[in-house]
Amino acid sequence: MDVKAWDAVAVDYFEEVISPFQKGVANPLYAKLDRLARGGGQTVADLGCGIGNLLPFLAPRFKRVHAVDFSPAMLRESRRHRFSNIKRLRLSLSDLKPLYAKVDVAVAVNSILAPSCREVDAMLVEVRRTLRPGGRFLGVFPAMESVLHQGQLILERELQRGVSERQAVRNTHRIFEEHKYSFLAGIFDEADASQKLYYSFELHRRLKEAGFRAPRLAKVRYPWNAVGGHEAFPGRPPMWDWFVQARV
Ligand SMILES: C[S@@+](CC[C@H](N)C(=O)[O-])C[C@H]1O[C@@H](n2cnc3c(N)ncnc32)[C@H](O)[C@@H]1O
Repeated sequence: MDVKAWDAVAVDYFEEVISPFQKGVANPLYAKLDRLARGGGQTVADLGCGIGNLLPFLAPRFKRVHAVDFSPAMLRESRRHRFSNIKRLRLSLSDLKPLYAKVDVAVAVNSILAPSCREVDAMLVEVRRTLRPGGRFLGVFPAMESVLHQGQLILERELQRGVSERQAVRNTHRIFEEHKYSFLAGIFDEADASQKLYYSFELHRRLKEAGFRAPRLAKVRYPWNAVGGHEAFPGRPPMWDWFVQARV
């Protein structure tokens, strides 16, 4: 999605986006940020801050908060969170020069979504360059495996309907809209909403190649009633995003 497409989402954000900041989502980001702030982290950057969902959590804990986004409408919406230590910057994650070596904790929550592996790799390098020696990166990334998990639950349900296995697979391809995915490149491709999704092994490799050390992955778990228009399977293991921690 380009700047204009994100601008269009800014006003009705929670209607349009499934967010790890929604009620009921088990998000390990808060506890980790709290620990890093207590451990002396002074400057935090929220890279792709959107309408500023994380800003009220960051501002009281860190001395300086850089709220970065390339969408003017998102930055405008974020202004409702009024704290004197927040500095807003209209920047693309593909060029973060003004922040090089100024940040102790860099956060990117579902903002590295460009449907291009090259652009993603370049953004990860830019994020790493914002960090001071010893700095930490905390990120949330859409999980490709989570989508596959949901696809298999659809298949199981179709099998239970008593149709032939071949028919169940065919039904699943259709319901799942498999034609919209590139499973190799990890891209979901729809008219104005193409975006990158990440395999855990891929994320691990890309972070290392971008110069991060010791990447660790955990899950941000979404209750089934929080996944919007998706097929829901209450009682089955939930869908998730990847929560990433890494050092420089
Ligand atoms: C899904 S929203 C997430 C917003 C916020 N992090 C949150 O979780 O509430 C993605 C945000 O990243 C921003 N974004 C996407 N690509 C970007 C880029 N290349 N440079 C800067 N911001 C970008 C969008 O404008 C949007 O505000």
